[in-house]
Amino acid sequence: MNDALLTLRDVHVRFPAKRNWRGNVVEQVHALNGLDLTVNDGETLGVVGESGCGKSTLSQVLMGMLAPSQGECVRARAPGSWLANGMQMVFQDPLSSLDPRLPVWRTITEPVWLQGHGSETERRELACELATLVGIRHEYLDRLPHAFSGGQRQRIAIARALSAQPDIILLDEPTSALDISVQAQILNLLVMLQRQRKLTYVLISHNISVIRHMSDRVAVMYLGQIVELGTAHNVLNHPRHPYTRLLLDSVPRLDRPLLQHAGETMKTGELPSNRRLPQGCFFRERCPYASVDCGQPQSLTPLNETDGVRCWRAVAGS
Ligand SMILES: Nc1ncnc2c1ncn2[C@@H]1O[C@H](COP(=O)(O)OP(=O)(O)OP(=O)(O)O)[C@@H](O)[C@H]1O
Ligand SMILES: [Mg+2]
Repeated sequence: MNDALLTLRDVHVRFPAKRNWRGNVVEQVHALNGLDLTVNDGETLGVVGESGCGKSTLSQVLMGMLAPSQGECVRARAPGSWLANGMQMVFQDPLSSLDPRLPVWRTITEPVWLQGHGSETERRELACELATLVGIRHEYLDRLPHAFSGGQRQRIAIARALSAQPDIILLDEPTSALDISVQAQILNLLVMLQRQRKLTYVLISHNISVIRHMSDRVAVMYLGQIVELGTAHNVLNHPRHPYTRLLLDSVPRLDRPLLQHAGETMKTGELPSNRRLPQGCFFRERCPYASVDCGQPQSLTPLNETDGVRCWRAVAGS
């Protein structure tokens, strides 16, 4: 379980934001700012954080679609798949990620076809096998994506990801476009497939209950950094970083007192600009506990074998 599949070391990603008349970059977006993270074999790693904190940029780095501006993303061992990186992605909106002109059996087996593997008959057989696995009837395989419901389309997207025999699947908000009842079915399908195929998931979601339901470990991101990382149980039930506490408190829950973190309020509503990074602790400007000691940059400090936090106060108090 603790066998690292992917390791990120001090990963920074900067995008050009503004150029002068000579075409030189004069302003940058600092999307990731020193990310250290491992993805372990067979786990589900949940990634949470508000919009713009860098979750999708992180998934692009993990996929190898985006090279870090600084630092590295290393794969521990060669994937058991013929995919170069052993990874596939499933996105939020299945309709826009499926080709509207392709019958679904072709969509499902497109990654195999792109690699030039298998005859048409073999690919059709593979599509039938995967359709059974994800709960799509064989007689529907010649239809186009728009003929399916949102949940069925997400099943098709999952079958497509599986056709390449990945060992890691990145799930970027996989159920947020779906009805609640359908969400649960898709999450249960993902859990079943993970057990059956020994998959590793990186699950990005705004939805804390989805993260809670699925994750073994959780990483909490803020302004392109991980501010808290640990077992899902510890991070979600005993959050240490003030940002994690406020993030969790913004989700109404019935199984604990609503005022558990009474008195803690975020100072301003907006994420600071990632074009000009704050000095010292990135959360300082919004933190209810900020003091002069927070003027130093914070590092993600291990608290035990599994958990770490980027806040000197939380470290001192633990
Ligand atoms: N190609 C790009 N060029 C310039 N800026 C970018 C690019 N991609 C992302 N960004 C910026 O990087 C920051 C992080 O974006 P990212 O999409 O990773 O956030 P996110 O956490 O996935 O947000 P959301 O929850 O809204 O999907 C944002 O400020 C975004 O505007
Ligand atoms: Mg995103």
